[in-house]
Amino acid sequence: MNPQKLEEIVKQLIAHGKGLLAADESNASCEKRFDAVGVPCTEDTRREYRELLLTTPSAEDILSGVILFDETFWQSSDRGQVFREILNNHQIAPGIKVDKGLIDLPGFEGEKVTQGLDGLAERMATYAAAGARFAKWRAVITIGDGIPTDECIGANTFTLARYARICQEYNIVPIVEPEVLFDGDHTSEQCEQVMSHVFDILFQTMRAFRVHLPGAILKTSMVLPGKDSGNPINHDEVAERTVRTLHEHVPHELGGVVFLSGGQQPNDAFINLNRIVKRGPHPWGVTFSYSRALQDPVLKAWAKKRTDINGAQNLFIRQLQLVSAAAKGELDESLLDDDSFVSHSQDL
Ligand code: G3H
Repeated sequence: MNPQKLEEIVKQLIAHGKGLLAADESNASCEKRFDAVGVPCTEDTRREYRELLLTTPSAEDILSGVILFDETFWQSSDRGQVFREILNNHQIAPGIKVDKGLIDLPGFEGEKVTQGLDGLAERMATYAAAGARFAKWRAVITIGDGIPTDECIGANTFTLARYARICQEYNIVPIVEPEVLFDGDHTSEQCEQVMSHVFDILFQTMRAFRVHLPGAILKTSMVLPGKDSGNPINHDEVAERTVRTLHEHVPHELGGVVFLSGGQQPNDAFINLNRIVKRGPHPWGVTFSYSRALQDPVLKAWAKKRTDINGAQNLFIRQLQLVSAAAKGELDESLLDDDSFVSHSQDL
């Protein structure tokens, strides 16, 4: 492990006004999203759609990195140029999702663990040799009746910490993602309590497994009321609770913090990020690592007219400009009142 190299990569990823595109949907998630817009989901349509994203002119002004799924990591553009080389040529760091998805935690109804530790060191060596600069592992924590249990939190934080240290052995920056799901009828207060507890256990475990914290990034949800709680999102409350939770429960020597959009409407994901950043200074760089909030309008436009690549790329750039302004705390939120400016997300 070269701590200095890891910290340099973190610095590049969290550069001011820049952030990450999560384009690492598994084939099953991609299928759900393509189904919703009526596009068949095949290896080639996934490649075609992702080519549009990865070759968008000037995206490098805003994207510091892109998280890829294994299939995309090895794919090439129509012209035969390997995607990760296209990214590298534009100073966008290629990243790789390395977990192998969720399975039930037997004995714990409604709770999941993430698999993929077996053989991870060998896979990491291959990705590092092929130019991956960072990786992602997603765990999910569900809030519900009597859950999350400490056993589920313990099982997930153990794998996140083991994964993170394996990444660092190969000088790949680990993004650790303990996503607390938006699904459910919980209150914001419950969400804040759960996230605080998860972070306490996560960082205690990461320290125990000797993860170099300045060379690691946290990917987190925001503190939100459950989607089915009937409580509307109050942007100032989200920002206040999220900032408090992070400042009090995430070690200040960590490399950085990036947010997922988690099924929020794109506008909410942008405004919430803007308000969170405005509440700084923060001990670490804070930015975005969004999938749906950046991609939903683009995917819909592409599905409608697959030959109009420029039109879809212009929409993508517009989303990127909004999120970049939010990542600087400089978003003119009144722009979002105009419905034509940002298409609303479906729950894809
Ligand atoms: O792991 C989660 C994804 O990378 C972020 O996706 O922004 O749609 O929640 P999302």
